[in-house]
Amino acid sequence: MNKLAVFASGAGSNYDAIIEATKNGTLEAEIALLVCDKPNAKVVEKAKQNGTPAFVFDPKQYRNKQMFEAKIVEVLQTEKIDWIILAGYMRLIGDTLLRPFEGKIINIHPSLLPAFPGLDAIGQAFDAAVKVSGVTVHYVDSGMDTGKIIAQQAVDVEDGMTREELQKAIQQVEHQLYPATIQKLITRGE
Ligand code: GRF
Repeated sequence: MNKLAVFASGAGSNYDAIIEATKNGTLEAEIALLVCDKPNAKVVEKAKQNGTPAFVFDPKQYRNKQMFEAKIVEVLQTEKIDWIILAGYMRLIGDTLLRPFEGKIINIHPSLLPAFPGLDAIGQAFDAAVKVSGVTVHYVDSGMDTGKIIAQQAVDVEDGMTREELQKAIQQVEHQLYPATIQKLITRGE
């Protein structure tokens, strides 16, 4: 069984969706680890409730990014993690972590990349008044949301939709698309 580490820093709704998919059997993998850089994040509590082992750290306790990424790599290797699933981990991945897991790190982004990379993609799309936005799952490289695209799904921005409604529609798509895409990747054995 493939072992996944979910990296998250926030509410953890994608973590929930991935856990649910492992429970109902649509995702044949084990969520073996949560990695979180915000000790007070909601997702930490969720991991506790689910019995997911967690590596929670405060970046300020480390001299630099290289140091905390080296520690993360150590934990990932001890746990024999196969795939890193970024789900709202709000940091660029540095070389220290990228090199040993090249091609095995994926991210979900709430826009149709390459449109609206970076922070607040939903707000960016809303302000641009686009008629279609969506969700992208992509491999992670050293850039900001620049890695090779694996899957995308469009979301229509209906007339009169509020920003909150758009966010809800995008999150609903994320919660289906992410577990389904992970399942496809691991069964292809890439
Ligand atoms: C998601 O919208 C994801 O696309 C982005 O960060 C958000 C995380 O939300 N990368 P959650 O913590 O999974 O609810």
